[in-house]
Amino acid sequence: MQDIHQEKILILDFGSQYTQLIARRVRELQVYSEIVSHGLSLEEIRARSPRGLILSGGPASVYDSQAPRCDPALLSSGLPILGICYGMQLMAHLLDGQVTPASKREFGPACLWVDARTDLFAGLEENGEGLPVWMSHGDSISRLPRGFRAIAHTDNSALAAIGDETGRRFGVQFHPEVAHTPSGKEILRNFLYRICGCTPNWSMRSFLEFSLEAIRESIKDRGVICGVSGGVDSMVTAALIERALPGRVDCIFVDNGLLRAGEAEEVSRAFRDALVGCHLVQVDATARFLKALRGVIDPEEKRKIIGREFIAVFEEEAGKLRQRAEFLAQGTLYPDVIESLSFKGPSATIKSHHNVGGLPSRMGFQLLEPLRELFKDEVRELGQELGLPEKLLNRHPFPGPGLAVRILGEVEPDSLETLRQADAILIKELEEAGLYDQTWQAFAVLLPVQTVGVMGDERTYEKVIALRAVTSSDGMTADWARLPYDFLARVSNRIINEVKGVNRVVYDISSKPPSTIEWE
Ligand code: XMP
Repeated sequence: MQDIHQEKILILDFGSQYTQLIARRVRELQVYSEIVSHGLSLEEIRARSPRGLILSGGPASVYDSQAPRCDPALLSSGLPILGICYGMQLMAHLLDGQVTPASKREFGPACLWVDARTDLFAGLEENGEGLPVWMSHGDSISRLPRGFRAIAHTDNSALAAIGDETGRRFGVQFHPEVAHTPSGKEILRNFLYRICGCTPNWSMRSFLEFSLEAIRESIKDRGVICGVSGGVDSMVTAALIERALPGRVDCIFVDNGLLRAGEAEEVSRAFRDALVGCHLVQVDATARFLKALRGVIDPEEKRKIIGREFIAVFEEEAGKLRQRAEFLAQGTLYPDVIESLSFKGPSATIKSHHNVGGLPSRMGFQLLEPLRELFKDEVRELGQELGLPEKLLNRHPFPGPGLAVRILGEVEPDSLETLRQADAILIKELEEAGLYDQTWQAFAVLLPVQTVGVMGDERTYEKVIALRAVTSSDGMTADWARLPYDFLARVSNRIINEVKGVNRVVYDISSKPPSTIEWE
């Protein structure tokens, strides 16, 4: 079997907000990439056998004593290197160049003129107008390191890109990884194929074949338990293991009573239709969760209770299957893996998310995480390779604590029913208007306030539904979706007419930050 990790690019993280984006761009060009700490030594890097290195951007100034560095030996190791922004400045600084605060800081779009004879810019057409690129820097290189020459400039930067062709070391001041640099992909392609000599062999088809083999190897004739939620990650995990070892995986689906309308049925249907043969244990734990949540209004308290109950139910069910299974599978993704090695350290907990973290070791399971190398988009692609339905793969994210964090205040059966109906109307209308895939997440929230209304000749005093729809790429930042007025009017009308107990609908126009996507 061909090892799809053989041609690997390592990205040294200096704390840029774009580091993950660089890794994704490289993979889109079908070369496997990994993010590593900037502090690895040359030996540690060599042990991973990369074809080339990319030094990420970062917020620091290279001349500050606290600024993150890489092992200087990397720069003369003969490995091909591309430094981006801070990465380029660091390369200049650690060699014998000089970096100083720029006389004019550059943030935003700029026009780049390149020397197309150099490999990095081969094939790029400027058409006499320059190439649009995205800049974001306050420092610049004031003296070139030995062996380097200028290979591109902008109006503000004489050294917008530098290169040492014989040493295969390059640096760019702009960000080729962002969408605002339209030719960025070409530049990265040149680096990967022409300069590092990589061939495109990372695809979801090759990953699938590789993983099937790897799963068979590690599981052999033993059994696997997989927790499923109806979300993309857990369904793809289950489907992948089932494909590798038909009949060997038991899936546990805990219905916590906090799901959206028809959701529990959808999960069992997905199993019947798309995961044929996969054994599903569906547990209706509604009563248990609602009892535990009675009288609770604090959001973090709700999360803790739901997390605790989930683990207890899951543990009970997994215990029944213990005889058959030695492995517990989880849909951990690459961003979770790198978060734990993050340059910035673990970020402050704004909302505590639960998972079954401590379970495998406590119950003596071995952990199986077949998606831990993948980004979300890649998981969707893998799901397609596995033949899972598009609708399931393109579902909006849904939080573990479910509707409990969308009912502000106490969670009661009546409120759940009201919210389910309102939410179902919003989602159905989004789908019918072709807007579902254009929003990253959309849902209804039930507010704990009553307002006055008039229906017919009657005065009403009923609840308020807030609609939330956002655009985002990863949920870390988000903007409110500019849904058409006519659409909002239709949804509002339908909710007020069809959902008993609601007489007002409002639309949330806050972005994240400073708001969050969920209301609790
Ligand atoms: P916030 O509200 O923090 O949400 O802007 C960002 C993304 O995370 C989801 N979310 C959660 N997911 N457990 C989860 O599994 C949680 O407790 C939780 N809280 C928020 C939210 O739906 C959005 O996609």
